[in-house]
Amino acid sequence: MKNHFTILLIVTATIFFQSCRDSEERTMQTASITSAPFGQTADSVAIDIYSLVNTQGMTVKITNYGGIIVSWTAPDSTRNYEDVVLGMENLQGYLNGVPYFGALIGRYGNRIAKGKFTLDGTEYNIPLNNGENALHGGLKGFDKVVWTAQPLEEEEVGLELSYVSDNGEEGYPGKLSVEVIYTLKNDNSLQIDYQATTDKTTVVNLTNHTYFNLTGNVKRDILGHEVMLAANKFLPVDKGLIPTGELRLVTGTPFDFTEMESIGKRINDTTDTQIVLGGGYDHAWVFTDESDKLKSVAKVYEPTSKRTLEVFTTEPALQFYSGNFLDGSLTGKNGKVYGKRYGFCLETEHYPDAPNQPEFPNTVLLPGETYATTTVYKFGVRK
Ligand code: GLA
Repeated sequence: MKNHFTILLIVTATIFFQSCRDSEERTMQTASITSAPFGQTADSVAIDIYSLVNTQGMTVKITNYGGIIVSWTAPDSTRNYEDVVLGMENLQGYLNGVPYFGALIGRYGNRIAKGKFTLDGTEYNIPLNNGENALHGGLKGFDKVVWTAQPLEEEEVGLELSYVSDNGEEGYPGKLSVEVIYTLKNDNSLQIDYQATTDKTTVVNLTNHTYFNLTGNVKRDILGHEVMLAANKFLPVDKGLIPTGELRLVTGTPFDFTEMESIGKRINDTTDTQIVLGGGYDHAWVFTDESDKLKSVAKVYEPTSKRTLEVFTTEPALQFYSGNFLDGSLTGKNGKVYGKRYGFCLETEHYPDAPNQPEFPNTVLLPGETYATTTVYKFGVRK
């Protein structure tokens, strides 16, 4: 009797696991990349949008205008795929002006004080586009240029974007040849590989400015998301959001994300001067692990959908920006109004203003050298 029961149990379990495997296999699909027209720039250049789909059905749409990630779907705990990034419905939406939604940022991510720096005794001036400072590359940064796109179809699908920035473009020295490869992996991660070379000494700091909202199709603000940053220091800023040069320990401040904490908990703690200056979080966190190997640096969890996001990078820092300047004046995809703190950015980078702060890690690129960094954003669900 006992033996019969055991056999029955084994048979039932085998059938159960087999049917689970079948249903897993049924949901698997072939990875693909396709393109479609996305509109025209003001000077009539035709722009495309590329859809990258992995074997699990995650879809990332990227346009060669600004290298912008327009949409990105990720599963929640019930395998429901929803859009997890802010963006516009069409090219015109981006041309009308957006705060860098999903875009590639260059030549220099974040701020350069007074738009000035000196290399080999020559002073260079970048147009001021953020009060008295230069932000994200100048007036027409890499977020607003047309990239040459090349789809990559190997084991995983990717999109290679290249752009040559002329000597003197936006005030920066040297002809800079840039290549960015987006690879959508089958484990629901997107890897971004950045490369650049120059023919003259220059400065480079490339990143991506995606605004995430893991609730799915932007259901509410991001204050309930929980964040962990593998960083024991951050860079305090002045009133123009330029780092003061101090590396401050996060311990005992609202900037301590060494353990999972909600974004909203301390974001309005006006007893902290840095919270006041940033209008919330808008600072660079410096990773405890200072190596340039690919390391896990950030984890995010959204409790209502149970979506998780993990960030890996070779960079030494990241700008955690809590969408403080969003103010409801922009309506994005699916008619969603982007109110204050409806998206957050995890911009992996070298330190802001490093060209003027010699103690900060080097951002100078010499002819003959290759700038190369990698960042990975990986989605999952908490069980
Ligand atoms: C960066 C900056 C912010 C803000 C956004 C764009 O993250 O640090 O201050 O300018 O870009 O609005």
